[in-house]
Amino acid sequence: MSLVEQINKQNVPQHIAIIMDGNGRWAKQQGENRIYGHYEGVNSVRAVVEAAGEVGVKYITLYAFSTENWNRPKEEVDALMELLVSTISAETPQLNKKNVRLQAIGNLNSLPPACLEELNESIELTSKNTGLTLVLALSYSAKWELIDAVKQIATQVKNGSLAIEDISEKHFEQGLCTKNIPDPELMIRTSGEHRISNFLLWQLAYAEFYFTEKLWPDFRKDDLYEAILNYQNRERRFGKTSEQLTQP
Ligand code: IPE
Ligand code: IPE
Ligand code: MG
Repeated sequence: MSLVEQINKQNVPQHIAIIMDGNGRWAKQQGENRIYGHYEGVNSVRAVVEAAGEVGVKYITLYAFSTENWNRPKEEVDALMELLVSTISAETPQLNKKNVRLQAIGNLNSLPPACLEELNESIELTSKNTGLTLVLALSYSAKWELIDAVKQIATQVKNGSLAIEDISEKHFEQGLCTKNIPDPELMIRTSGEHRISNFLLWQLAYAEFYFTEKLWPDFRKDDLYEAILNYQNRERRFGKTSEQLTQP
């Protein structure tokens, strides 16, 4: 049986978040410069979006550029921004064909204007699609997002529209960039690194983590299916005991 056939369609994560890591090391292994690895990583994005849509995943969030990534050499940052613009404009017709809706999270106003324009255009052009939602995390940092949410809450308290005792998780979530998006059940990181790198700190509170040694440009459909199958073999207890989950 192929990997995709082994997946239990009743227990597919609604939302998968991925830290796409290892492009630079992959390129180095090929004797190329880091930027080549980013270009090749686009093929993996295409494969994963297709695979996720096929097994009924509803949301996929890809960590494409962190706030910390602005500190990379200018040449690499410029290349990543150009790649973003060219990929989004080239892929939008395919997204529409596959019924994929594009969204973005992060400090988007810090992106170069051409990038933001292309992004907003594609978000608008795909906004009516009803299949998979592809969320790109761009200039994203969870600490930035959390502080921004706190600022929104503080403003509401200050202007009297919210009482301190009414602040709840639900309320807080309304201040996050991911409002209206369910929390990921599964988080995948490639390239053998075991860290979260400022990604979705709030939203991953109860996610299952899956790490693979594969470098991002080598990641393909079967790698996503393997991660989903691994997820399906886990017992998600949410603080309860195993017995509580199995007894009616
Ligand atoms: C991930 O690959 C892509 C981005 C962070 C934009 P890296 O560029 O981090 O590749 P490595 O980790 O240096 O191999
Ligand atoms: C995390 O990867 C960010 C993205 C994948 C966009 P990095 O390669 O930048 O993470 P660190 O700095 O090694 O933790
Ligand atoms: Mg990296």
